[in-house]
Parts: sequence; structure tokens; C-alpha cells
Amino acid sequence: MKQRVLSGIQPSGQLTIGNYLGALRHWVRVSQDFDCHFTIVDLHAITVPQDPAGLREGTREITALFLAAGIDPQHSVVFAQSHVVAHSELAWLLTCMTPLGWLHRMTQFKDKVGREQMESVGAGLLNYPVLMAGDILLYQAHAVPVGEDQRQHLEFTRDLAQRFNHRYGPTFRIPTFFPARTGAKIMGLDDPTKKMSKSEESDHHALLLLDPPDLVAQKIKRAVTDNFREIRFSDDPERAGVNNLLTLYQAFTDEESETVEARFDGKGYGELKREVAEVINENLAPLQARYREMVSDRAYIDEVLRDGAQRASAIADATLADVKQKIGLLAPAAK
Ligand code: TRP
Repeated sequence: MKQRVLSGIQPSGQLTIGNYLGALRHWVRVSQDFDCHFTIVDLHAITVPQDPAGLREGTREITALFLAAGIDPQHSVVFAQSHVVAHSELAWLLTCMTPLGWLHRMTQFKDKVGREQMESVGAGLLNYPVLMAGDILLYQAHAVPVGEDQRQHLEFTRDLAQRFNHRYGPTFRIPTFFPARTGAKIMGLDDPTKKMSKSEESDHHALLLLDPPDLVAQKIKRAVTDNFREIRFSDDPERAGVNNLLTLYQAFTDEESETVEARFDGKGYGELKREVAEVINENLAPLQARYREMVSDRAYIDEVLRDGAQRASAIADATLADVKQKIGLLAPAAK
């Protein structure tokens, strides 16, 4: 029996190259060896205001991206979180046993919500980790492939599962964090000391997965470097720009660090930038082409999601029934 994996991505906006390397590409690799469940977490997206039409479109677009990136929906289960009602239901059941203090200590919440915003943000933002814990625990996942930024959420999930198991007896499998191969932390092109993120203002901060080749080249050309004129990996903050370009190059070529450094030995930053843009574009071209084909075929995408929801529900509903029984909720009598 293969071990089970679950992961999710929000359907809001575009993915950056960083999201691709840290999540989507990692999933494609993982999907060969594990029993995988990948969900588009639309219920997480609505923890902040969303345009309804945009949210619906975004859900289909991210599904198309999964498929374009190489996730095979016959093999892996691909579904929209809101299509499997057990997610909402387990989130409430778990909410009732989550200490408020745990939620208030989550760094993502603290970073996003200052004192002034407490009056205006929805309570879903505080409860976000509980919904995520439910996503994972419903499938009894062994491992959760996510980026480093999700480590605390996974710790929270483990703690909550242990708490439940302790109170009601063995119910949930305790999942493990399954990070992408290290070294792929991608930083902003305009400020290589900041993680690349789609929410930054500057238009040459982030590379997006669907950026056309000339835009990729243009953004890389403008990327911040330094005056050392030396192309090697380094954790010196002053060399973070060049390091980031090398990291990108390495992530797309899968070459050893020494090989990458040897390749650029004696070359200039202009050359480095041209080659980085080239490997990125070469690697993304097939994905982008498949995406364009896929995204226009709504009927196919909807069918993938329908089928995925059905397969996911079969597992999720069984876990949910067990949880309700353990808590003491009376099951409706059979007719
Ligand atoms: N919080 C995750 C992120 O922002 C998305 C997510 C929601 C998720 N539920 C999940 C990831 C379950 C893994 C497993 O990236």
C-alpha cells in the first residue's frame, strides 16, 4: 500500500515560480510514489474578501494548472475543497476543541492581522489553521508536501490530532511535514532579501508561472545583483541577488552546485541573466502550452473536479462519521 499524501493551494490569483518549485512541481514528483490528494482550497480563499466570479474562475484555473504541470487526475485525486462538505463540517468539530491560545500564537495570523484590524477581519482568518488541519486529517494523510512557510500549520495539525486522539482514542493519523528538496527558496528579484510573493507591489518582484518568455527575460534582466562580479552560491546578504539567480538556475536544471558554478566561471552577470531566463522559459513552455489548451476546456475541468470530489468524499465521509460517533453526536436513525 502506498502512503497517502494530501496538499492544497488557494485559488486566489496566479502562482509564482516560487509556489511552483515549492509546491506544484514537488507534488508532481511525489505523485509518482504516493496515493495523492490535491485540493484547491476555495474555503481558505474566502477567509479574505473574494470577488465571486474571480473565485470561480480561479478555481478552474488552478485545476488547469495542476493538470498542465503534470498531475494525472486518473491517478491522483484532484478536487475543490468546497465540493467535499466534510471539510466544513470537520472544521467546526475541531474548532470546538481548539484552544484559542493556539490560534492567537500562529505567526501567519499575527503577521496579517494587527491590533487595528481585529474589528474588521473575519473570524475565519483566525480559524484558518483549523480548517487546514481538517483537510489533512480527513484523509488520514501520512505526509503533507508544502513549503517551509506552512511548517507551523502542520505542527498545529499534529498537535490538534494528538489532542483529539488523547481525548477520544485513536482516530487521526499524525501527519508529517514533507518539504520540497531544499535550496529552492526563491527570493524577490527587486529585493532578494524578501521571499518572492505574489502580493508585492513592484511589477518586477515576482516571476509568475504564466509569464510569457519576453516578460520573464525582462524581469530577470532588471533583477538586483551586486558589484562583486563573481558568480557563486553564497549566503552573504549582499550577494543574495546573484545567489537567487543561481538558485533559480539550479532549480530548473537540477545540476549540482559545483557544476552550476563551473558553468558560469568567468562569465558576467548579463550572461548569467540570459541563461537563467532561458532555462526558465524552456522549462515552462510546455506547461504554459498545456495550460492554454486545458483552461479553455471547461467541461473537462469540471468533470475532473466532479470525479475527484466523489473519490475524496468516500474517504472523508468515513473519517467524519468516526469523529462524530466518538464525540457523541447521535447518528440519524436509518429508515
Ligand atoms: N495554507 C496552505 C497555503 O497557503 C494551503 C492549504 C490549505 C493546505 N489546506 C491545506 C496545504 C492542506 C496543505 C494541506 O499554502
